[in-house]
Amino acid sequence: MAYSYILTAAAIPTLCFVCKVLYRLFLHPLAGIPGPWLPAITSFYSTYYDCSHCGGGQYPPKLKELHERYGPIILPVPGEVHISDPDCLDTIYAIRDRNSYSAGGLMVEQSVGSTEDHALHRLRREALNPYFSARAVVDLEPLLTAKAAKLAQVFEAYASFGLDNGLLDDISEAHRQREALASLLAGVPLQNHFRTSMRFVGGLMTLLQGQSALPPGLIEMIRFRARIRHDIDAVLDDKANHDKGSGRSLFYELRDSTLPQHEKTADRLQDEATLLVMAGTESPAKTLTIASFYLLSQPLVMRKLRQELTNAREHAPDVEIPLHSLTALSYLGAVIHEANRLSFGVTNRMRRYSPTETLAYTASYGPNEGTTYALPPGTKMSTVTYCTHLNETLFPDPWHFDPGRWLGNSEEVTRRKRCLMAFGKGHRRCLGIYLANAEMSLALAALAQYDMKLFETDESDVTFKYDNQISHPKRDSKGVRAIVRGNHI
Ligand code: HEM
Repeated sequence: MAYSYILTAAAIPTLCFVCKVLYRLFLHPLAGIPGPWLPAITSFYSTYYDCSHCGGGQYPPKLKELHERYGPIILPVPGEVHISDPDCLDTIYAIRDRNSYSAGGLMVEQSVGSTEDHALHRLRREALNPYFSARAVVDLEPLLTAKAAKLAQVFEAYASFGLDNGLLDDISEAHRQREALASLLAGVPLQNHFRTSMRFVGGLMTLLQGQSALPPGLIEMIRFRARIRHDIDAVLDDKANHDKGSGRSLFYELRDSTLPQHEKTADRLQDEATLLVMAGTESPAKTLTIASFYLLSQPLVMRKLRQELTNAREHAPDVEIPLHSLTALSYLGAVIHEANRLSFGVTNRMRRYSPTETLAYTASYGPNEGTTYALPPGTKMSTVTYCTHLNETLFPDPWHFDPGRWLGNSEEVTRRKRCLMAFGKGHRRCLGIYLANAEMSLALAALAQYDMKLFETDESDVTFKYDNQISHPKRDSKGVRAIVRGNHI
């Protein structure tokens, strides 16, 4: 008797599982999408490539491989289509009522970047837009040039073997924080798949052994958020507006903005600030690292950049090139575009869905070329930059660093620019594009003034190896290291 109860108890979930598998394979509206059957029935397929295969972070290369076999549309996980077709990017990221799926796992759930709902995203984004516009960045010129000058001082200090009292202000602290953020990012694939269990385990470990039981990246993040919280609480408490005037923090502006009250809570502003700092440091740092490596390893590229900077200085040899002229330099811009391309921006799947629209996609190549697939409302659509930025028809010899591919106004170059996904696309594209371009232009112009030689560094220190939300090279990389020999004459 007991035996038959056990059998029934085991049979019910097994039957449910079998029904679900059969439904996903044969009856689901996306059942006809090409690709292997495993990711069509279970997300463990992506979990395996994200968290285990060759050390994890391997799903973007796997997706590229699947597209080469099955064509431009496949299922990366049940209920989502992944499309590798440059001509479809505008459709996926269209400025329409598109919701986004957030990455999660970075403690910024209430920030603009993690907001799924279209209307709420718009509200949050509009509150921030004025502070990141081209105009706002021009207003920041004195601050940014002062930072670039400090960067030059660091190069100077290393060139003279003098005492370095800090990268910008504290080099070792900056290094420590970057290491901590990198280790936090390394945990993102796991966080994305096992968020609840990891929170539970983290909570339990903290309870039993205190904070020291947590991974160093997480401890640093908790400290960092506590510092941010302290500053935000001070802004919210500062009813007398002691810090009024120009240069005051963006959080005063948000506090005094027309945002509804529930959008101005300390918790929400803490998430927003955390996102802004993380997004505003790690991605430009990645692009700069890549640009620096190739400038130092390809003398011809460096020579062309220096020539352009010299020409720009000829008009006014005694003053620094103004920011608006610097950011308009075509070769410098091409170096930044190419470094952005090989940085891959956000490396995991950038997902959108339309809650109301049925979309259609016609395969433009591969074994099912010409077949049209209907994507019902709510279907998640995604792309990875790994597929777009390594597309050989767009970027021949895609692993080669070649700023020349961005020069001129040919149709090809215009198409490349339209398909560069490092900053994302559409109404959720990066908020900090102008700021990032200004910072990177100033930093690379400063770098070009010094003669440097790469030290124990090769291409594997910058080449994509792991998808940790942003690209990560081989695990034991020490980064791009160079010996500064002195000023470039
Ligand atoms: C090279 C530098 C940078 C790269 C490659 C980059 C890349 C990206 C990407 C790919 C996204 C997601 C876009 C999408 O989902 O469609 C994003 C979003 C965002 N980025 Fe950047 N970013 C950079 C610099 C910055 C800077 C300097 C800031 C300024 C603080 C910033 C702030 C943000 C914010 C707030 C979002 C969320 C926007 C939203 O959801 O509306 N980023 N960035």
